[in-house]
Amino acid sequence: MKFVYSYHIPIKDYFCQYKLNQNSKVHFFMILYLAPLQGYTESYFRNAYSKYFDCFESAIAPFIPAGYGDTIKKSRIRDLLHENNDKMPVVPQIIGKYAPEFIPLAKHLYHYGYKTVNINMGCPIQSIAKKMRGSGLLVYPEIVEMLLEKLFKEVPNHISLKMRLGYYKKQEIRDLMPILNKFPLKELIIHPRLGSQMYTGKPDLEAYEWCVRNTQIPIIYSGDIFDKNSFEKLQKRFPQQEKWMIGRGVIYDLFLPMTLKQGNITTAEKIDLFGKFHASLFQEVVEYRNRPKNQLNKMKEYWGYFSRQYKNHTQIHYQITRSNSLEEFAEKSDRILKQEAWRSKPLIDGFISE
Ligand SMILES: Cc1cc2nc3c(=O)[nH]c(=O)nc-3n(C[C@H](O)[C@H](O)[C@H](O)COP(=O)(O)O)c2cc1C
Repeated sequence: MKFVYSYHIPIKDYFCQYKLNQNSKVHFFMILYLAPLQGYTESYFRNAYSKYFDCFESAIAPFIPAGYGDTIKKSRIRDLLHENNDKMPVVPQIIGKYAPEFIPLAKHLYHYGYKTVNINMGCPIQSIAKKMRGSGLLVYPEIVEMLLEKLFKEVPNHISLKMRLGYYKKQEIRDLMPILNKFPLKELIIHPRLGSQMYTGKPDLEAYEWCVRNTQIPIIYSGDIFDKNSFEKLQKRFPQQEKWMIGRGVIYDLFLPMTLKQGNITTAEKIDLFGKFHASLFQEVVEYRNRPKNQLNKMKEYWGYFSRQYKNHTQIHYQITRSNSLEEFAEKSDRILKQEAWRSKPLIDGFISE
């Protein structure tokens, strides 16, 4: 059956989420989550994306720092405000280490409508990990246990975790798993690298497999899904895996989730969809970010990746970065969208890192 686009009907409705893999003859049930990427997958991106690419079932929002005090200002949860979130279901993420920092924010989010919160135990940034936050928390199983005990007693939200294998060594997740297994966690999202690795090396699939075998908590895979090929290899290795998270892969290739669910789409269709998505993203960024300079810089950041769809990518990126005003940016991007030739696949070299 030929797929026909209609921009008013969610693309998801056209797609059968069951996918027959010809080689393994296994029906895969595929649920895709949008990963939190601070600076990229905020509400302006989620809104524009879900308008034209309805391929993600859910998103985890980039983290909000936990903090003491009961007053939660609107500005702190701006990315999560209902009026800033059009369509894609989103789960808030909190980073911190002690329960009293988490509780007021988690409760506030619950009463505001977020029935699940995710805890960040994966951030590898040294200045954060050194303070026992993000992946730095994985070194201290007793603190994780205390945190979860208190949270499960005191907050009404469901709790999910997003974590790496450890900070220094993968023994850390082996020590932690029996503790995690004691709690009714909703989901465990695992990016199978160590915090100390940042984004170097490859995801450790053996260690991931160990996690799958050693927990009953529903587990989600996150890491290095950059194209159909890498995804299908993962699917073959983990045929029972239903839920996958994609982060950098979708910034590099906006069409990746669609390709995974639907199969290849033509360049003409891509050009058309990208034009519509880009106009929507631009509008969202202008509405969300206060000053023209910030709006322009954000669009330039995205174009560091969008330009890689084009044959003439180096020049295109250079031209965009030379824009001095939003008007100039609008003119240049419009010309590029209308005239520049596309590559058959986006250039994916050197990955975004935090
Ligand atoms: C720029 C950037 C920002 C990120 N921000 C967050 C974040 O706020 N919370 C989080 O849990 N993970 C964050 N991550 C990690 C991603 O969610 C994801 O787990 C990781 O990039 C591996 O998946 P990928 O290869 O699909 O990108 C970030 C990663 C990058 C590159």
